[in-house]
Amino acid sequence: MTGGFFITGTDTGVGKTWATVALMRHLQSLGSSVLGMKPVAVGCSLNDGQWQNDDALLLQENGSLAVDYTCINPYALKAPVSPHIAAAEMGCTVQLEEILRNFYHLRSLVDIVLVEGAGGWFAPINDRQDIADLAAVLELPVILVVAIRLGCINHAKLSYQAILASGQPCAGWIAVCSEQHMLAREQNIATIRRALDVPLLGILPYTHYPDFNFLSKHLQILP
Ligand SMILES: Nc1ncnc2c1ncn2[C@@H]1O[C@H](COP(=O)(O)OP(=O)(O)OP(=O)(O)O)[C@@H](O)[C@H]1O
Ligand SMILES: [Mg+2]
Repeated sequence: MTGGFFITGTDTGVGKTWATVALMRHLQSLGSSVLGMKPVAVGCSLNDGQWQNDDALLLQENGSLAVDYTCINPYALKAPVSPHIAAAEMGCTVQLEEILRNFYHLRSLVDIVLVEGAGGWFAPINDRQDIADLAAVLELPVILVVAIRLGCINHAKLSYQAILASGQPCAGWIAVCSEQHMLAREQNIATIRRALDVPLLGILPYTHYPDFNFLSKHLQILP
């Protein structure tokens, strides 16, 4: 087991956070201490004078130990737009060095850190760099989260090819059944399975509410 994974997705809203929390619970059930990190988050709200994001709060809540919010989410950006635009609107620039500094601190505290990206693989985080650059400096194997819905085969193949082209190791992919009544769900999953040369780490079933213990039982990652 490496010291962590970088969780990316085929798009925004595909289930990265739910899959990350399920993965945290799964790894914790195997005896590892785990923290989640969401270095760059958009669409934050002001809580007691601090910009905070729901994903980051959920990751913080599910960590094996209590850590400062700012360490989990050093860039909490207000506008619900692409990170490079949201940061510019707040007069700040996302710096990889700052993210790395916080990541190394989290890494020193636990066995495994799961880092959730923002949007998809090529989402820009500043004028020069995107999520792929962030994953590269963190030097973590990538897990691709795929929402099983119409168009997912194309999105999964595109994202997978992009990850490989970036030179990052891909540890596997997770299918998220976030549509209750998806036609030909199994055939879609089987097609992606054939197209991606990495293990399918789990098929997360549709759930009406986020039951992360239930979801975690559908993951297969060896310690
Ligand atoms: N297993 C599931 N069953 C049912 N719905 C799901 C499941 N997983 C995710 N969803 C739905 O998809 C939504 C988006 O999931 P999630 O917040 O994990 O996506 P994300 O990729 O992290 O989004 P973002 O790009 O904003 O970080 C959830 O709020 C939920 O409504
Ligand atoms: Mg998320």
